[in-house]
Amino acid sequence: MKPVLKWAGGKARLANQIAEAFDGPCKGVYFEPFLGSAAVFLHLKHRGLVGRAVLSDANHKLVEVHRAVRDQVERVLRALRRMPKDDWRERYYEVREDYNRGPHHGPRHAARFLWLNRAGYNGLYRENRKGRFNVPVGRYTALRLPDPSRFREVSELLQGTELRADGFEDVLAEAGEGDHVYCDPPYVPLSATACFTGYCSTPFGLPEQRALALAARRVALSGGRVVLSNHDLPVVRNEIYPPAEGFMHVARPRVARAISRGKRGKVGEVIAAIGPIPEAAAA
Ligand SMILES: C[S@@+](CC[C@H](N)C(=O)[O-])C[C@H]1O[C@@H](n2cnc3c(N)ncnc32)[C@H](O)[C@@H]1O
Repeated sequence: MKPVLKWAGGKARLANQIAEAFDGPCKGVYFEPFLGSAAVFLHLKHRGLVGRAVLSDANHKLVEVHRAVRDQVERVLRALRRMPKDDWRERYYEVREDYNRGPHHGPRHAARFLWLNRAGYNGLYRENRKGRFNVPVGRYTALRLPDPSRFREVSELLQGTELRADGFEDVLAEAGEGDHVYCDPPYVPLSATACFTGYCSTPFGLPEQRALALAARRVALSGGRVVLSNHDLPVVRNEIYPPAEGFMHVARPRVARAISRGKRGKVGEVIAAIGPIPEAAAA
């Protein structure tokens, strides 16, 4: 089940391996605090592996898109039909300006966001310091939007879900016995070790990676299972998700990705899992 959004680090291709890392269907609540395109949730829900779900992302403009697709899919499709088609390239910056003006909720917001996601460079979502979306036009020969049928299927799968724009800590604090959590945070940088160790600022640096691992362990100690993705680096395997703390490295897939200056290559990722940790083992 493919999402309607393209998202940097999207997990549509790894969704099967991530599903296997949960070791069976979720009997409690499924939480996904780094939702992005919702690729993993959609896969799990489509396969009947989750029921009640709390889905969240710190990007509230993205969450509003999922809400509009869940609650008003026909109005989103109608607004999308009114977006530029043949002259999409010439009108890209006009749509970007309209998008930045807002409002940032409802079907028209969702249509602009989805359109920019397909017409903008590589499907990137990036904002400047003032919170204005600033991705340039993409280099595609034609503008391709997903079929209306895909929107309707995604909308169906989102029915009954709780969609939030909370930070990951608030979401993980609610998970406990019988719950499943999938965490796909911004990754530890592949090469810029200096950045990671604190010589320059990253929005999701070492303190956030450690706080996430700690929160995951807390969920495991309360009887839940947490699956996490990250780059397959020694610092990730040995310091952030160390086996001594109960983390298992269940898969180490290699994934094709844009790496730098438009080049593509394969990078290693790790799928880690933790929990439930029995009380006796925790003592
Ligand atoms: C790698 S992407 C997730 C991709 C997603 N798994 C998919 O398949 O599309 C990471 C997401 O985390 C969100 N994010 C970044 N910092 C966050 C935070 N502190 N709390 C919650 N979400 C955050 C970003 O907005 C982004 O959508």
